[in-house]
Amino acid sequence: MRVLVSAGPTRERIDPVRFISNRSSGKMGYALAAAAVAAGHETVLVSGPVNLAPPAGLAELVPVESAAEMAAAVKARAAACELVIMAAAVADYRPAETADRKLKKQPGELLLRLERTEDILAALGRAKPAGQCLVGFAAETENLLANAAGKLERKNLDFIVANLVADGFGSDDNRVILIGRDGSRLELGPAPKTVIARQLLAAVAATSSGSDFSGTV
Ligand code: CTP
Repeated sequence: MRVLVSAGPTRERIDPVRFISNRSSGKMGYALAAAAVAAGHETVLVSGPVNLAPPAGLAELVPVESAAEMAAAVKARAAACELVIMAAAVADYRPAETADRKLKKQPGELLLRLERTEDILAALGRAKPAGQCLVGFAAETENLLANAAGKLERKNLDFIVANLVADGFGSDDNRVILIGRDGSRLELGPAPKTVIARQLLAAVAATSSGSDFSGTV
């Protein structure tokens, strides 16, 4: 099966030396990509900036920096994949203007105006080919299950991986709940992200054999 995984944070530039980003380490997405390769799947990894070695055996590694670059890379490839997992922590906002030169400090406050980035996962959900399995992540600090189930519905997902920020960000271990479109719930961990990744992949791949897949290519 063809699998696309996105991983890591994005960086939204303020000027040539500054950016807005988040604490995502990319470990969960990289572990998922490694698990997909190990399971024999043709695996594409679209990755924001991380300090991790890419898994051996990828069909393609696409390094990106911003949410816009990640959107372009993912949208160009997703339609041909039977399983798409958006594990990346994509920035929801970017600076409305990016300075060409380093901003010099001025007296007083600096007001940074932010604009929304595209919601890549929602776009994938709207364009989902029949038979494709689309999986999102929901990192929450509160109301975990209700927020995650809302995202699954809003973004037209087949599964959502819900985790509390306190349990996962940056760490080698994680504890997640996999929620299915049919309301099924699978609690995984606490365990190393490599173990959780294998279990997640097995659970979602079982429902996405690709037999009725109608994506192009
Ligand atoms: N995501 C995305 N594009 C964005 C933002 C998020 O594809 N611009 C994806 C992430 O990869 C993840 C899921 O959407 O799979 C989680 O999105 P999140 O931002 O947490 O959810 P929202 O619906 O935006 O809700 P909120 O910001 O209210 O938490």
